Amino acid sequence: MSTSKVDVALARADERTGLANMMQLYIHDFGELWSREPPGELGDDGRYADYPLDDYWRQKDRIPLLLRLDGRLIGFALVNTHSHSGLTVDRSMAEFFVARAHRRGGAGTIAAREIFSRYPGQWEAAVTRRNTGALPFWRHAIQGHPRVDDIEERDYNTPDWNGPIIRFRIKPA
Ligand SMILES: CC(C)(COP(=O)(O)OP(=O)(O)OC[C@H]1O[C@@H](n2cnc3c(N)ncnc32)[C@H](O)[C@@H]1OP(=O)(O)O)[C@@H](O)C(=O)NCCC(=O)NCCS
Repeated sequence: MSTSKVDVALARADERTGLANMMQLYIHDFGELWSREPPGELGDDGRYADYPLDDYWRQKDRIPLLLRLDGRLIGFALVNTHSHSGLTVDRSMAEFFVARAHRRGGAGTIAAREIFSRYPGQWEAAVTRRNTGALPFWRHAIQGHPRVDDIEERDYNTPDWNGPIIRFRIKPA
């Protein structure tokens, strides 16, 4: 990782297919956590239902990002302004994915911190209860950000969210 370069770039509309394809892998990972609920079930075509991505190229407050390692696609992030806690947010990490071959090498941390830096303000990262690997990941990525403030982690069990939500503020550079 020390000589490798992690890059975060806005996904252009003509890069949407790449993001949608990775979303299939992401849903497959989550299938383990969502067992027997519709998003985790394959259709007759062997694909999961398409994730609603259109607004990411239509609405200014929705941000589609591609993650690359040494120029190769390794993941994606979707940022929006949906608050799972009901409290005010500027940004929310809606979805975040690193391909399996590149996990536990630090790429996710570098990418997440770069995204936080680009969009200062009040953030929220909601972690579904059964995603036990993601919680230590987000704690690590958030706590180690050089401009983070007011980190707060609370457990929610509401109709809108079941699991921990980490709220934090990224100060402008
Ligand atoms: C969660 C995810 C993004 C982590 O990406 P990554 O590039 O592997 O993360 P990093 O290598 O930067 O991990 C940094 C630290 O986070 C923690 N961490 C990361 N993944 C972890 C896991 N599965 N279990 C426990 N701790 C984990 C560790 O402390 C790790 O440091 P270490 O490897 O030195 O022990 C990746 O596993 C993924 O895409 N998972 C599927 C999708 C997902 O769950 N997304 C998050 C939605 S909330």
